Amino acid sequence: MSDVILETDGLSRTFGALVAVDGVTLSFRRGQVHAIIGPNGAGKTTLINLLSGELPPSAGTIKLRGRDITRAKADEVSLLGVGRSFQKTNIFQSFTCFENCWLGAQSRLPTSMRFFRPASVYREVEARARRAIELCGLTHRCDTPAGAMSYGEQRQLEIGMMLATEPELLLLDEPLAGMGSEEAVQVVELLKRLAADHTLILIEHDMDAVFAVADLLTVMVNGRVLETGTVEQIRASKAVREAYLGDEEGGGH
Ligand SMILES: Nc1ncnc2c1ncn2[C@@H]1O[C@H](COP(=O)(O)OP(=O)(O)OP(=O)(O)O)[C@@H](O)[C@H]1O
Ligand SMILES: [Mg+2]
Repeated sequence: MSDVILETDGLSRTFGALVAVDGVTLSFRRGQVHAIIGPNGAGKTTLINLLSGELPPSAGTIKLRGRDITRAKADEVSLLGVGRSFQKTNIFQSFTCFENCWLGAQSRLPTSMRFFRPASVYREVEARARRAIELCGLTHRCDTPAGAMSYGEQRQLEIGMMLATEPELLLLDEPLAGMGSEEAVQVVELLKRLAADHTLILIEHDMDAVFAVADLLTVMVNGRVLETGTVEQIRASKAVREAYLGDEEGGGH
């Protein structure tokens, strides 16, 4: 199917005796928001680390636009248009919003260009950084050091840094983690904006947010895919309710 952007087949990762990701076979469609949910320790972050090239798999394959990227390293995967955010913030506190995004923008350049940098390349990097800041909603914070911004804004900035690489596919690991409800609303709005012209793979524990933005949900438990379905299908699933959502959440539907 040509609208599949990323697919895994039997993807696994062990840490010693622990099977953190266990034979995951999934397809991610272009333009969709595909959420991955599951209890703590289910293997969600490890799966993202495999998809982004942060970690090599122990078994299985990953294909991006039909091309095998199973052994690709993180910087190669990034150059192929895959951006990822981390569960914990990963920004430079003493750098301004613009400087952080500028770093993101130039990290997408091939290494040779980083040393030999004609003015046009420099201008393009700057333009990318500014577009990213605007898209993540931080234009008014452009010259503010990241460390002086609220926690929620810092998480937005982290998404901005990723956007500065102009990815087609975004891997987001708990973008709402640790946020107050007002900040969370901002980021849900941002996710909706991003969904308009990106493919998103979203790990998130906040079920209201997931149900608000996801086209498709995959539930992981103990490293395995328990079920994949639409919001309605997952909410109605007895297996999911028992394994993860809890009776309270599922009981109302
Ligand atoms: N680098 C590592 N070395 C050893 N064990 C690891 C490593 N990374 C993850 N694990 C283990 O793999 C399992 C899956 O962890 P992972 O972080 O992928 O879960 P998660 O679904 O993201 O959980 P959470 O919702 O708490 O973020 C856990 O048991 C974890 O302790
Ligand atoms: Mg995690």
